[in-house]
Amino acid sequence: MKLLILGCGYTGQRLAQHLIDKNIPVHITNRQGEPILGLKVPTFVFAHDPQTSILPPADAYAGVTHILSTIPPNAQGADPVLQDLLPTLETLPLQWFGYLSTTGVYGDTQGAWVDETSPLRTQVVRSHHRVQAENLFLRSALPTHIFRLPGIYGPGRSIFERLRAGTAQNILKPGHVFSRIHVDDIVQTLWQSMQQPHPSSIYNVADDLPSEPSTLILEAAHLLGIDPTPPISYDSAQMSAMAQSFWQECRRVSNLKIKTELGIKLLYPSYREGLQAIKAAENRKNP
Ligand SMILES: NC(=O)c1ccc[n+]([C@@H]2O[C@H](COP(=O)([O-])OP(=O)(O)OC[C@H]3O[C@@H](n4cnc5c(N)ncnc54)[C@H](OP(=O)(O)O)[C@@H]3O)[C@@H](O)[C@H]2O)c1
Repeated sequence: MKLLILGCGYTGQRLAQHLIDKNIPVHITNRQGEPILGLKVPTFVFAHDPQTSILPPADAYAGVTHILSTIPPNAQGADPVLQDLLPTLETLPLQWFGYLSTTGVYGDTQGAWVDETSPLRTQVVRSHHRVQAENLFLRSALPTHIFRLPGIYGPGRSIFERLRAGTAQNILKPGHVFSRIHVDDIVQTLWQSMQQPHPSSIYNVADDLPSEPSTLILEAAHLLGIDPTPPISYDSAQMSAMAQSFWQECRRVSNLKIKTELGIKLLYPSYREGLQAIKAAENRKNP
């Protein structure tokens, strides 16, 4: 087995380390082709640009049996991998291809649960582009597995950073919940799927407890031993266009399929276990 990770950002790096720890060879790409601190793996450039992409060299694919793409659609809505690499990837003897998508494809369900068979009713252009990318990957000759993700958090990327920087807004919108997932539960799901390929499968990768963001802020502030940010009403909150689009949708994401089909036991069933583990690891680093 050899894994190529196209776009080795936050999730890609955690997955790469997981495989390196199992002595499985990994190749990665990023836009600069720069090695990533602490990851001793061959690193190649893949920099998609609608006019002048820089493509990975043939060496990047040598011996590769599994590929994960974590690269989002470009500003025009096209998927970089489909646009630049699909004909090459389709010539490889791949056992598994994974694509990281978003649970945004389901749109707003006013808090109702969604599973992988739920209709895709997004009204957000960005999420329409994801639906298109998913469909094109599923229709390709690749052994495609789609992973729909809600908000990703984990070490170095959680509410703790925003609380410490004083940028966390404690927005109150009663009943408005978000699903989320710890990065290491994405990693274990990807790994398990590689062991048990089911081409053309779609998986939601979410934790067990969709919850209001304000409850998360209370828990995180408690763990940091600081006062939570004062609450503000949803109507008076200052938000980016991206954040507004998130708050316009409310859904609960079911994770039953990863448990039944892949046998996943979540490491972090809710934000509580996830935040506690991140804080405990920080304490071990800086006692
Ligand atoms: N963050 C969330 O909460 C969330 C929620 C749902 C879904 N998702 C999606 O899940 C996936 C993984 O998330 P993540 O947070 O791990 O992503 P990330 O850290 O942003 O990593 C994305 C990777 O894609 C590469 N990339 C971006 N544009 C590219 C282009 N034009 N050409 C070539 N490579 C390009 C980046 O290259 P560089 O390393 O050179 O920057 C990076 O390695 C993404 O598709 C993300 O949109 C994220």
